[in-house]
Formats: sequence, structure tokens, C-alpha cells
Amino acid sequence: MADTKKEDLKPITRRYFLEAIGGGAIGIAGTGSIVLTAQFLSPNVLREPPSKFKAGSVEDFPAGSVTLNKEQKVFIIRHNEGYFYTVSAVCTHLGCIANWKSEEGLIACPCHGSKFDREGRLIEGPAPRPLQRFSMTMDDQGQLIVDKGVVVGEEVFLKV
Ligand code: FES
Repeated sequence: MADTKKEDLKPITRRYFLEAIGGGAIGIAGTGSIVLTAQFLSPNVLREPPSKFKAGSVEDFPAGSVTLNKEQKVFIIRHNEGYFYTVSAVCTHLGCIANWKSEEGLIACPCHGSKFDREGRLIEGPAPRPLQRFSMTMDDQGQLIVDKGVVVGEEVFLKV
């Protein structure tokens, strides 16, 4: 460590001090404006998973099952007679994710208490509409394909 003698130290002048503070402030302001400009120029998009996805194979879903796919926010439902359909898990009131209540045999929203039957039909509000149903197909390998971009009526099923 170098020895510094008292007479080697230069006193900080008022001018030097003010210049150092001014330079620091300009540097901070410049960096901030560069960051804000970069944020402004980058696209303001919401990244979501693709609307069409593989839900699993037919054997993954026993007859009479209601399975929540948390990532895609849908229920994959296999009726006791074997056919399939897909119901949105997004509540039509304010968008909470609903749960399947097997003991009651219905889909219930935890936020404000809306209830839907296993077909997605509204039983009890405050939700204003039934849950949406989405298109479902099966590919050559027996994989179920759900397309959330295609809303279907409650009369549409996938027979396997
Ligand atoms: S968000 Fe489902 S009942 Fe309000």
C-alpha cells in the first residue's frame, strides 16, 4: 500500500466538487434515457402458449374423468360413454381459474362462487355465461389435439 503524505493530498475545490456532481447527474440521466428509449422501441407483446396443443393420448383419460390442464387452462373431459370434449377453465365472470369438484360433480370458481356443470353450463352466478368449449380432434397417433382458437357449441363432441 502506497504511503500518502499529507502534503501530497490536494484539497478538493468547490469547483471540482460541483463538476463531479454535475457529471454524475448527467451520466445517470443519460443512462436512464437510453433504458427508457430501448423499452419504448421494443414490442409490447404478451407471450402466450400456442392456442393449438396436444392434450395427451386417449388412454390418459379414463371414462368419466375431468382433468384440468393447468398450463392451458382447460378441462379435458371424457364422458362415461367414451366421447371427449374440452371446456375452458377460465371463469366467465372475472377470469379466475375454476376447479373440478368431484364430490359435488361440478366445476366451481374459487373467486366469487360461480358453478358450472361438467358440460360447462352455468348453474349459479355471478358468472354471466357458460364456460367456453373448444375444438378437439385426434391425430393419427391417438393424441388429442385441442384448439383454443376455435370455440364450438355444446353439441360438439369427439367420438373415439
Ligand atoms: S371470477 Fe369466477 S365467479 Fe368471479
